[in-house]
Amino acid sequence: MELSGRAIDIVVRLLEQRTGQKFGANRRWRISSALAGVMRARGIASGETLILRLMHDAGLARDVVDALLNNETYFFRDRALFDHIATRILPALAERRKSTRRLSVWAAGCSTGQEVLSLAMLFAERKAHWAGWTIDLLGTDVSATAIEAARKGAYSQFEIQRGLGVGQMLAFFEERSGGWQAVESLLRMARFEVHNLLDTPPGPGNFDLVLCRNVLLYFDSETRGRAFANLARALASDGHLLLGGGETAVGQTGLLEPDHAHPGFCRHKAMGAGPGVSIVGCVPPWPVRSGSR
Ligand SMILES: C[S@@+](CC[C@H](N)C(=O)[O-])C[C@H]1O[C@@H](n2cnc3c(N)ncnc32)[C@H](O)[C@@H]1O
Repeated sequence: MELSGRAIDIVVRLLEQRTGQKFGANRRWRISSALAGVMRARGIASGETLILRLMHDAGLARDVVDALLNNETYFFRDRALFDHIATRILPALAERRKSTRRLSVWAAGCSTGQEVLSLAMLFAERKAHWAGWTIDLLGTDVSATAIEAARKGAYSQFEIQRGLGVGQMLAFFEERSGGWQAVESLLRMARFEVHNLLDTPPGPGNFDLVLCRNVLLYFDSETRGRAFANLARALASDGHLLLGGGETAVGQTGLLEPDHAHPGFCRHKAMGAGPGVSIVGCVPPWPVRSGSR
């Protein structure tokens, strides 16, 4: 059933209010089919009924927003970047944090968990190296449906084949009734929370590594600026931020800049302090604790 223009306007506004995501005119044709399942499950037969029910049914509003979000993800998406994390970023962080032996990682907009479990696998594959470390691996998403799936760690045959080598699949997943279940030891390495990137960043803050990939694409520039401010606020003064392939901090924020030592990553903007002097690490307008915790 095709929704009326009025119904589409209302759900698009709801999506934007709740998540900051813009649904451009060129993608509006997808909305009726994206909401068909939600409407069928609740016996809603018309756009007008949908609008009326949305006014007083918080669960429906949540499901409508979730159905409109783009949750596309897969294991080790952009594999070269995960290789770079494994071979360059984590060893450098291990050296800088060796006195505290604590690392915290936040994947913002982690969808159904593949990104976070990919990171967990990097740590698990070097278990002996990380023995004695406290690794806090946090995945967040505005979609409660996605976070529920991430917490379960259950993937279909199609999902498990995307990005995961056979060795990793057999080492970290068990076949269960037509799908694949992440082993308990891997799932326990991560925690997942519903969180909106446009709200105050989650705890504990001072994250050593932040991933926020393929989330900012559909924000307008003002919303993207707010998201960048939150990412900068959450990032340790010497932390690393990874955006998606089509995303950049250049021209979007005065707080972050590309890190030329780590192509594809950003860091706090270096603040020039006069000729010949540069302070590496941004001094944001809020207190950021130094790297050692
Ligand atoms: C395309 S997926 C990307 C998943 C993963 N980061 C990756 O690159 O494979 C984008 C995710 O961002 C989430 N998202 C959208 N707006 C958000 C917001 N305001 N706060 C947190 N997550 C958001 C969506 O629910 C979706 O799961």
